[in-house]
Amino acid sequence: MSNRRRFLRQAVFGSLALSNPAFLAGKTPPGKTPKGALPVVIATWDNRKATAAAWEILKNGGRALDAVEAGARVPEADPNDTSVGYGGFPDRDGFVTLDACIMDELGRAGSVSCLQHIMHPISVARKVMEQTPHVMLVGEGALQFALNQGFKKENLLTDNAREAWEKWKITSKYKPVINWERHDTIGIVAIDKANNVSGACSTSGMAFKMHGRVGDSPIIGAGMFADNDAGVAACTGLGEMVLRTMTSYLAVEELRRGAHPQKAAERAIMRIIEKMPEMAKENQIGIVVLDKRGRHGAYSVQPGFAYALYQNDENKAFEAKSYYTK
Ligand code: GLY
Repeated sequence: MSNRRRFLRQAVFGSLALSNPAFLAGKTPPGKTPKGALPVVIATWDNRKATAAAWEILKNGGRALDAVEAGARVPEADPNDTSVGYGGFPDRDGFVTLDACIMDELGRAGSVSCLQHIMHPISVARKVMEQTPHVMLVGEGALQFALNQGFKKENLLTDNAREAWEKWKITSKYKPVINWERHDTIGIVAIDKANNVSGACSTSGMAFKMHGRVGDSPIIGAGMFADNDAGVAACTGLGEMVLRTMTSYLAVEELRRGAHPQKAAERAIMRIIEKMPEMAKENQIGIVVLDKRGRHGAYSVQPGFAYALYQNDENKAFEAKSYYTK
């Protein structure tokens, strides 16, 4: 393991373990939560602030759709989160361009891609779903729609992100860093007390990407997929690999065929490893999966993928099992 990766692992999991004895003890492994323990919300990475925001809605009998939107808005508004929303690293030309999607229990979906200047792309995606006959709006059209809906135009490029971009320009390398900055995309999925599922996904995408690049996060079935007959899944990591195997859709289809969420997560990740073995050696994909019974699963290509789970009034972070080990 390289020094950088070792450092990142220590930074992430050192803090997790300190704040969470259950994490250290390895308790509550994926999929071992009791059947029927609803509501439940799970997010990629240690996004416990996001699951907490979602829980405020779920515990009071609120709708999973409202919960996942509220959860995704937390990192979107955090200037210290350099891979989602405000504070996200820009593309190679210095533009912060955001991708997001959302899906509800009725099978409705909304998505925005390459959206600039709007802090909460997840809420714009929801407006696309609820206020238009379309599923996806991109670029200038998405921005115009957001402004028409009353969203505020803002500068999302923080000083920190600008400095990182200036530094990147010296070498201009695209190589993604595994488990970069603790996480990249937030994918957040939930089941409410009424046993309805919803999911959301939001990101500023690959740091210093080509202008116009779209990853998996706004693509329904890639970065996230929800089906109220089966369950819901969301992904994080290098979007190009997720796009080529429709990872979230695949996991939900596994649920439909009767798989436990942990098996569904593992099979979806295995498809990536089988189809792109060389890319998989050097890149990270993580997935979280929930089924209709409130059971969950999580799995990743590389070690170091964390997820946050709020269930039974407890908000905890765990490290997922992975194909490659430490
Ligand atoms: N998973 C985020 C991206 O690749 O854009």
